[in-house]
Amino acid sequence: MRRALLHVDTEARGRDGAPILDLRSEARARGKLVLPDVALDPDERRAIVATWRGRMVSEYASARVFAALVPQAMAAGLSARETGALAEMALEEIDHGIRCARVVVALGGEPVAPLGALPLVPTHDDACAVEGFVRNVLDVSCVAETVAVALVASEQALACCPALAEELERILAAEVGHARFGWRIVDTIVPTLPPEMRRRLGAYLVVAFREALARFAPFVTMRDASAAALSLGAPAGPGTFRVLVTTLETITVPKLEAAGIPARRAFDLALAEIQGDRVAGEKPRPRDAA
Ligand SMILES: [Fe+2]
Ligand SMILES: [Fe+2]
Repeated sequence: MRRALLHVDTEARGRDGAPILDLRSEARARGKLVLPDVALDPDERRAIVATWRGRMVSEYASARVFAALVPQAMAAGLSARETGALAEMALEEIDHGIRCARVVVALGGEPVAPLGALPLVPTHDDACAVEGFVRNVLDVSCVAETVAVALVASEQALACCPALAEELERILAAEVGHARFGWRIVDTIVPTLPPEMRRRLGAYLVVAFREALARFAPFVTMRDASAAALSLGAPAGPGTFRVLVTTLETITVPKLEAAGIPARRAFDLALAEIQGDRVAGEKPRPRDAA
């Protein structure tokens, strides 16, 4: 009975004690997704299934981020419309998790995986409610979701068949909305903030950019994916890191600078730190890869 009610089996635990996310019944309920038989070597196929399974978990888990932003939006005095939009975004991320689960099944895998760590969304107790909320929105929408739009759009363009393209199209449409939410906040709220607060938001961006660059750094040393693997949604390897850097440099930074947040300096600092880390580890420099 419990399994019919919950997405997470509360008794099953992974090796690290994390709950197991099991989306088999949710994927089944949406009907079978059929993908063409793309020629892949077994390692590539395993890696693609693992990618979609990891994506299933991260999409599903990101619902908690938007859900946590709801009370923060209320405390910051946002309209009911914008606050409600955040609740809808949480549901959309769960929907994305199920869409990814369908792809896992179509590729011959099981949409079952440890849910992993679920870090709390920062409450920024050193800042007022508006500044704390804007910090999180910059991180979530103006960095992560804006980059997601660029990445999913390129995957969608390369999809092996209309059925996978349709799944990615539905995910993309929602990610565009998640990014636009942040840019609405930047256009409407940020210009009303005092200069000192905008300066502090720039300082916070160093953290947000650094975390995004660190999260994507492993792609730099990955092998370039084959065309067949890319058509099934495999990460492009170094190209994925290039998309991150290009999106931040050409979209996020200029838009935030236009709103009066010193984002250029923050990005340059974060990039220099990542480059320094990688040079110390004698690995390729991200700037070279970008
Ligand atoms: Fe998503
Ligand atoms: Fe999203």
